Amino acid sequence: MMQSVWRLIIINSWILFLYCYANNHFYKGYEVVRVLPKTNEHLQLIRHFEDNYGVDRWSEVLTINRDVKMSLPRKQAPKIKKLFKQHGIDVKILHNDLEKLIQKSDDISKQHKIRTKRLTVNIASSHLTGYLRYQEIVEFLKEQHRRSPPLRNFTSLFSIGSTHENRSIWTIRIGKPSARRNILIDCGIHAREFISPSTCLYMIDKLIGEVNNGRVSLLSVFNIYIIPLLNPDGYEYAQTERRMWRKNRALNGYYHNPDSKCIGVDLNRNFGYHWMENGASTNPCSETYAGPHQDSEPETRSLQRFIKQSSRHWDAYLTFHSYGQYWIYPWGFALHMPDDYIELNNKATIGSEALKRVNGTLYKIGSAANLLYESAGGSDDWAKGVGQIKYVYTVELRPSDDMNDEHAHFAFMLPETFIEPVGQETYVGVKGFLRSLITSRSQKSLSKNKY
Ligand code: ARG
Ligand code: ZN
Repeated sequence: MMQSVWRLIIINSWILFLYCYANNHFYKGYEVVRVLPKTNEHLQLIRHFEDNYGVDRWSEVLTINRDVKMSLPRKQAPKIKKLFKQHGIDVKILHNDLEKLIQKSDDISKQHKIRTKRLTVNIASSHLTGYLRYQEIVEFLKEQHRRSPPLRNFTSLFSIGSTHENRSIWTIRIGKPSARRNILIDCGIHAREFISPSTCLYMIDKLIGEVNNGRVSLLSVFNIYIIPLLNPDGYEYAQTERRMWRKNRALNGYYHNPDSKCIGVDLNRNFGYHWMENGASTNPCSETYAGPHQDSEPETRSLQRFIKQSSRHWDAYLTFHSYGQYWIYPWGFALHMPDDYIELNNKATIGSEALKRVNGTLYKIGSAANLLYESAGGSDDWAKGVGQIKYVYTVELRPSDDMNDEHAHFAFMLPETFIEPVGQETYVGVKGFLRSLITSRSQKSLSKNKY
């Protein structure tokens, strides 16, 4: 009896050891490099590497004479670097071991947890000290929902659909039931962008705090719907297995290509508005795989269904990503501007200026295709083009992608010390933007604005 218990313990420890070993070392020897494309051919070469060599481009911007940061898989790195050089592109190595970079961020987070532990009294503030897991986020939402004065129905909590792995996509509504206008906010479309869901949680906590303190001015005008984690499957995978995971967890072989062992669709390439016209891939192994057809994914369809429910009428849709510090509006699929881009640009300016006043954080403003690069299938383009929402923005949170920025090297691995400052400034920015909608609404009857 004792013997078999011991055997079990030994086997289990082995499994645990192997699991941790595999886990912690996946990115060992991955290189993070910077290149400067100087011609169109160079840009094409980068896209080609992204599609076929497991190159993971981190920089949002892809244009001539702008630095591009990317990670190279260990095995392919020498070959890729050689090809770059053959095409006259200099390669600067920023980190020779991505694993160490991830470790460094985790170490800072650990220190932060130890420091703040004494201050954290209850679950209601756990979201400030760490990037919560899916289940913890669900608990957090329930707690926040309980926290609001229940009789006045200031919040409701519901799921808009479920994922491949059967997780619910939770959504919280915050606002006075009589508020007539609606705002939609989502976070966590891309799995590895941990600062995005944490920022949604920050805003939920603050908004409900304002309800409880009787400061409801915004919330008597708007019902704000927040989806803090649109891609929970990808997020959990990034939390436990592969820190740099971006897509959802679709088993691509299911659909049309039984040979494909590659998993995941890039949800922000899957939305059916000018789908696949630009900057997306048909290769299931690519980080920007657009899916077997437009709107193929349960996460995509859940969001679309929710937006289309005819009883609601949306003033604005904001979707939070990282990184780069960009406050951007459609279109992403092509370089031309929407007819009302001046209004979009003005309101983005108001939001980003409010944000800047908190910690001095600077955002760049522009259309997605112009500021970053042309790519179709984004939730933003769909929300404007099909959903007919006027004010649509993708916000790329910290850090900046500017080489000279002291935190740029953290990229997607922003340590947990940043949860609060990023949450704070973003919340102020969003509120500034929302207030500007109220004033413009009073002038609205003069304009053609259909809302
Ligand atoms: N980081 C986002 C992405 O690459 C930017 C999306 C901007 N919008 C767009 N429609 N391309 O998915
Ligand atoms: Zn993203």
